[in-house]
Formats: sequence, structure tokens, C-alpha cells
Amino acid sequence: MISGRSQVLGVFGDPVSHSLSPPMHAEFARSTGMDTVYVPFRVQPHHLETALGALPALSILGVNLTVPHKESALQLLPEVAPAAQQIGAINTVTNRAGDLVGENTDAEGFLADLRAQFPEQGWEGKPTLILGAGGAARAVIYALRQAGVPRLVVANRTWEKARSLVEALCPDTGEAIPMEGAGLESAISQAGLIVNTTSLGLKAEALPGIDLTRVHAGTAIYDLIYNPFETPFLRQAKDLGLPRANGLGMLVRQGAASYARWTGRQPMVAPTLERLRDQLKDPG
Ligand code: ATR
Repeated sequence: MISGRSQVLGVFGDPVSHSLSPPMHAEFARSTGMDTVYVPFRVQPHHLETALGALPALSILGVNLTVPHKESALQLLPEVAPAAQQIGAINTVTNRAGDLVGENTDAEGFLADLRAQFPEQGWEGKPTLILGAGGAARAVIYALRQAGVPRLVVANRTWEKARSLVEALCPDTGEAIPMEGAGLESAISQAGLIVNTTSLGLKAEALPGIDLTRVHAGTAIYDLIYNPFETPFLRQAKDLGLPRANGLGMLVRQGAASYARWTGRQPMVAPTLERLRDQLKDPG
């Protein structure tokens, strides 16, 4: 229910019609008892600057940014937090009494979810294998550095992209390898945590060359994809009885972090997770 006192939040993207964020933020409003509404705004790239500039005029508390705006907003906002600067993407814009601040809550959402999902697996003290070297991998690497993981191995089909990511984000602890061969096999067998950040699985594709039968019994498996709810990669982990999680928890925790930035209130994560899980498992 929108009232005269409702405060407006939203997301700028193009497209935005498939976003899970509106039902997620409706749940956050319910759990905090706040009168906020979260609106999907379709903003085309050439309108991003005007749309951001309108936030103070419209007293909108804040917005998320999604494809294709996360990187281009870096040039448009007067203040960008160091994490967003390093990750190279902004997913959260907050209107602080007329001043716009760009932040990135993906890394903290990911880290909070890892800690919640795998509290006793000891992954923090072992090497992590990251599959993929795109935008999502940047937030994951940033988070794992924050966690103090001793070694980060980044495997990517296009090896050069993995190498430049390692140079930019973890030159001291990182190593770039191709997505095949002996290096990949040894990284799989040594990892305490394996994270899929590639888009493979979105259309139910398997990850070629990833054989989880080689891992230690306690190796944690994380896939950033949450729709489909169980990718072939996660199915492989399930069949082997490995601890595993999809990216829904990261989605909800980055959203909760954004909501807290905008409203000063920390929403409860569990009921929102449950509701979105039901929705994804039974979309009808
Ligand atoms: P995002 O921002 O979601 O990370 P992205 O930047 O387009 O998306 O990155 C997609 C990732 O999935 C990349 O690591 C990409 O590998 P390349 O850098 O070699 O392109 C990976 N990826 C996509 N399709 C792939 C495929 N068919 N096989 C292997 N890796 C693939």
C-alpha cells in the first residue's frame, strides 16, 4: 500500500522487468515496518545521468543500479566508495540529503552469505578457486581478499582476462590459470571453496572440465546463479554430498545492505530468502 508518507526506493536498469528486487524490498519493508516502496525504473543508457540527477529533486532515498549502468555510473557520481572503485561497479546509490554516494554491496553480500552458509568449513584458511573473470568475479575476489583467503586462483576461458583481474585486484595472493588442464585439476583438488561466477548454468549448461570428484570432502561449492535454482554444477556438488549454495543468499544480503544504507534499518534476511526461494522454485 502506498501512502502519502511512503518513501521511494528503486532500481535503474534496462531491462528491469525480470528483477526480483521489488518483491525482495517489499519483504524488507514488511520486516522493518517501514513505509518504503521500491520501483523498477527502465532507464536507457543515455538517460542515466539525468535520472541520477533527479534523485534529490524527487526525494528518492536511493536506487540500485543494474545492467547496463553499474560501470558507467562510476564517471557520473561525485562520491564513490573505495570498494566500488576497486570492484569497478556501483550497485547502490544513496541520496544523503541531496548528495549522491555510489557504493557496491555485492562483495559484502557475498561474504556475509559465505559466512552464513559455510560457517565451519574452514574455507578462509585454504585456497579458493574462482571460475570466470567478468564483473561478478571482481566483487567475489574483493570479498575473498577482505576475508583474508591466503590464495586466489582465477580460472577463465580467456586467460588474459583472468590475468588482468589478478593484477588489478590480488597481485600478491592471486594466480590466473586457463579453464582446462593440469593447473585447473590441481586447483580443484586443493581448494577449500570453489565459486562459479561465469554465466554457464543460466541455461542449464554444465561447466566443461570441472570434475568435482577430485575435491576434498569438506570443499564448499558456491554458484552465483540462482535462477535456475540448481545448476548442473550445483547438482554435481549435491550428488557428491558437498556443502553448497546458490546465489540467492548473496542477492538478498546485498539487497539488505542497500536497504540499510538508504533507511538506516537492517531488514531480516531469513523470511525474505524463504519467500524468494518459494517463488523461484514454483514460479507459477
Ligand atoms: P558478469 O558481469 O555476470 O560476470 P561477464 O562480465 O560477461 O558477466 O562475464 C562472463 C564470464 O563467464 C566470463 O568469465 C566468461 O568467460 P570469458 O572471459 O572467456 O568470456 C564466462 N563465460 C561465458 N560463457 C562462457 C563459455 N561458453 N565458456 C566458458 N566461460 C564462459
